[in-house]
Amino acid sequence: MPLLPVLEGLHSAEAFNAAFLSAFLDRVRQIEKRPLELRDALRGSIIATVFEEPSTRTRLSFESAAHRLGAGVITVADPKTSSRTKGETLRDSARIIGGYADLIVWRHPRDGASRLVSQAAGVPVVNGGDGRLGHPTQTLVDLYTLYREWGGFQGRTVGLMGDLMHGRTARSLAWGLTMLGARVVALPAPGLDWETSFETRILERAEYRAGMVSHPVLRSWTGSEEARVLEPKGMLQGTLFQEGTPVLERFDALYLTRLQDERGAEADRGVYPGLRGWQLDDPLLADCLFLHPLPRRGELPEEVDDDPRARYFLQARNGPVVRQAVFLAMLRADAWSLPPLTSLPAGNPEHELGACPNANCVTHEEAIKPPWRVVGRRQRLFLCAYCDSQLGVEYAGCRSSRRVHPLHSQAALRIRPENLRPFRERDEALREGYVWWGS
Ligand code: NCD
Repeated sequence: MPLLPVLEGLHSAEAFNAAFLSAFLDRVRQIEKRPLELRDALRGSIIATVFEEPSTRTRLSFESAAHRLGAGVITVADPKTSSRTKGETLRDSARIIGGYADLIVWRHPRDGASRLVSQAAGVPVVNGGDGRLGHPTQTLVDLYTLYREWGGFQGRTVGLMGDLMHGRTARSLAWGLTMLGARVVALPAPGLDWETSFETRILERAEYRAGMVSHPVLRSWTGSEEARVLEPKGMLQGTLFQEGTPVLERFDALYLTRLQDERGAEADRGVYPGLRGWQLDDPLLADCLFLHPLPRRGELPEEVDDDPRARYFLQARNGPVVRQAVFLAMLRADAWSLPPLTSLPAGNPEHELGACPNANCVTHEEAIKPPWRVVGRRQRLFLCAYCDSQLGVEYAGCRSSRRVHPLHSQAALRIRPENLRPFRERDEALREGYVWWGS
């Protein structure tokens, strides 16, 4: 399969940047004010929705958005009714459906499925949620809900709570919030935190740093009074010389999420963080908006529904208008263009690093070798270009000088990204004619 130089479409919240997001949120506002003017904006276009995992809000709000713009909609709402049950590969299905539609929204249980689909479809693909990896349009919905309240994100503190390890909505939102300058407090359920390398990538890209904050209420959520906060680098100055961990003063929003048990998540001894009646009166939450991508479980009891701080039903209502803006940006760029996304490279399939270590990566189901991409300025991370998992690389070769260095050496950092060649073992590099240049 040829790899496209750039993956087309909207696959990952990592592709968001401040210019894109600011213009996008503003655009949604304009569309919301003029609902009838766009009735025919996509007349003659066909949008396909392919949902290989259950969905209520995401699929129906995409379809509602398409209808509101005058587009036709074709759909696979139940994968049992498609040829995928006959063993058709994801790539073949994508190629076929790409011939019937001008844009495809695809939801799939495997990490990285959206990027793979986009390479075969031949039309723009929008990720409707892929495994535990990402759900970028949910992030746009979440950000829009907050933007309508706040007008901006700088100086706002948002807690992301629950199953951060498997929860694609919280992971994607972490990218979005940090690109816009908000502080993010990670409130993982015990044992269900995201990986360090994920956070490292966010910190570097957003020019943030990680610190700690404390508050007694946090213990009832995560089992500890202390939590990690990701904040813009300048922001910690005031607290640098303070003794001990600074006390968290307030949350502007809390983003609750459910346990992703369909992805193998288990609550540690049944403990899972959520809102409790007694917490609602705590000054920490006095002006805090409550969001949830839904569906909810016990973490968000119905008694919160009538609280003036609840925003999760409004959030769900914002789904169609946000997705209208996504369709317009992709299919009517002539009239509705936005600043470009930060493109993710398709990756380089040249390596002997073996299979992707992530058992849920789409490369396993499709029996393909994981192409690598590299991120990081101070420390290089080699990632699977589909699912972003870290590949086991110990040595970095330079294709121009033909020298090979230990990965964590200064010399390796100096190799230009386009000249990099990753190795798991030194001997492999020597066999390929590289010269050892370590100490
Ligand atoms: C989420 C999803 O599918 O990731 N739902 C949604 O799209 N609103 C969250 C979830 O299922 O927990």
